Amino acid sequence: MTRAASDPGHRSGGGSLAGEGVDAVVRVRDVWMTFAGKSRGSDVHVLEGVHADVRAGEFVCIVGPSGCGKSTLLNIVAGFIPPTSGEVMVEGKRVNRPDARRIFVFQENGVFPWLTVTQNVGFGLQRREPAERQRIVQHYIDMVGLTGFERAFPRELSGGMRQRVEIARALASQPSIIYMDEPFGALDYLTRLKMRADLIRIWQEEKKTILFVTHDIEEAVQLADRVLVMTRRPATIKEEVRVDLPRPRDIDSPDYLRVRDRIFDAMGIDRTTGRSGDGASLDEKSVVPGL
Ligand SMILES: Nc1ncnc2c1ncn2[C@@H]1O[C@H](COP(=O)(O)OP(=O)(O)O)[C@@H](O)[C@H]1O
Ligand SMILES: [Mg+2]
Repeated sequence: MTRAASDPGHRSGGGSLAGEGVDAVVRVRDVWMTFAGKSRGSDVHVLEGVHADVRAGEFVCIVGPSGCGKSTLLNIVAGFIPPTSGEVMVEGKRVNRPDARRIFVFQENGVFPWLTVTQNVGFGLQRREPAERQRIVQHYIDMVGLTGFERAFPRELSGGMRQRVEIARALASQPSIIYMDEPFGALDYLTRLKMRADLIRIWQEEKKTILFVTHDIEEAVQLADRVLVMTRRPATIKEEVRVDLPRPRDIDSPDYLRVRDRIFDAMGIDRTTGRSGDGASLDEKSVVPGL
């Protein structure tokens, strides 16, 4: 039993989805979330019985339609908001507040505009001795490809470069787990492709655990070891899809397309029209009760 649970090829079934394993560093157990509305009957039911596990060193993507509750789930896992019920355990301890050993990377506005690249990346390292701090900062500036821009301010950088600063800062704090919420969502297509390739290279070098949220199915298949597919709101994790494809991934290969299409199917999306099987479009308005 133990063997099967920790076997990377193992898939759990019978409702306990998302790779339940003894070696999970993140465990989400039966998490429910309802935001209280301003008036009676206007509560927003966002999450419904979410189960998920992430193993050490794994790259897991959570994918789901806009507004389904992905950010809410990641914020619960990171300890920013408490769930209505259920439990999140990270590295063996119940989560009830954010913890500096794990870091969160947002879509934008993470960097401090009044600090240079070096100062931004070294921000969390004030207590280190200066030479050590400088060594760590330069290491991660080089790793994300910002060598030569050490003294630049964020306004002098492109959006992609600012996200690189953000990633370098996250890595410099030497977290055990990185949570990423659509970190490339504001970037153009080619920059996103490049950022994904670089993130994978960095992840392979650093061997961090990454839990990455996106509404972009292609992005999930390009990045993840395992994709957790969320339903529309009130959301749960409906299916997990393993992505056993070699890296770097060929996005035109039949195997890639097969995995991608499985996720489209799991989300109930018609690939030609982008609409879900029940005829609703996938934007959030269509899932607001009564509309
Ligand atoms: N603090 C909040 N108060 C009330 N409703 C919220 C709050 N945060 C999120 N929501 C609602 O919860 C739903 C899920 O939001 P979110 O987790 O941001 O979705 P996603 O990240 O998948 O796009 C949305 O309907 C959103 O309006
Ligand atoms: Mg979101």
